[in-house]
Amino acid sequence: MQIHPLISDLRLALKNRARIVLVPTMGNLHAGHLALMTQARTHGDTVVASIFVNRLQFGPSDDFERYPRTFQDDCDQLAAAGVDLLFAPNEAELYPEPQEYYIEPPQIQHQLDGEFRPGHFRGVATVVLKLFNIVQPQVALFGKKDYQQLLVLRNMTRQMALPITIVGGETVRADDGLALSSRNAYLSATERAEAPRLQRVLQRISSAVLAGEREFAQLEREAAAELDQHGWKTDYVAIRRQADLQVPRPPTEQPLVVLAASRLGAARLIDNVEINAGTGR
Ligand code: PAF
Repeated sequence: MQIHPLISDLRLALKNRARIVLVPTMGNLHAGHLALMTQARTHGDTVVASIFVNRLQFGPSDDFERYPRTFQDDCDQLAAAGVDLLFAPNEAELYPEPQEYYIEPPQIQHQLDGEFRPGHFRGVATVVLKLFNIVQPQVALFGKKDYQQLLVLRNMTRQMALPITIVGGETVRADDGLALSSRNAYLSATERAEAPRLQRVLQRISSAVLAGEREFAQLEREAAAELDQHGWKTDYVAIRRQADLQVPRPPTEQPLVVLAASRLGAARLIDNVEINAGTGR
């Protein structure tokens, strides 16, 4: 695997490459990222991963400084997964001057996770556009665990007429259902044992909706209350339309998704479950 910290070297290395697929990451890779790398191979000929912990998408009280950085281990895993090139710039390379031009996503950036992480989606969209311009992929993959991020990036790509297909990768889970996340590293052993509750309450909502329950606000309230009774501090549990993450107006036959963000100890965990009839979920 080639490793390129410099934009100019990466561009040179990609010059004659066919069908480039990009998987952007912030490193500290786990099986969820590696599944995206494997999926990427089915979409093109040259798989490029990037590792960059993007300061722009972290708020002042977020975990930018302590975000786990495990570069050597990440490189070993990417090489073993058959990634062709890794773009791993430092901050001076990606932001040689203060970033003054931003991608400003619409109202959705202030909802759900955006309500609790002001500026987050603008930081994500800005760095991803920059990565797209540098790598110029035909396809880019993002995990569905960050459901709102995937929607924002899909919409940005479409509205900006970028010639890139955005592909979502399924969430990879531990055996007990906890979605894999770099932030799981912040959990103590006791918290780690409690953490799968998040996925369980979302599954329960999904089953209730599939069984015909339409009191969405009540389902959301009960789920948040259960989490909080078990030591979580819940930001939101929300049943939304998959297509635009807006509040569904029952009765609706549109595909729904239930999303949540909640804090357990030092970790803020997010998860979601798509409510698709016929999937058993
Ligand atoms: O999902 C992530 O890891 C990040 O938000 C991304 C897409 C790499 C942008 O920094």
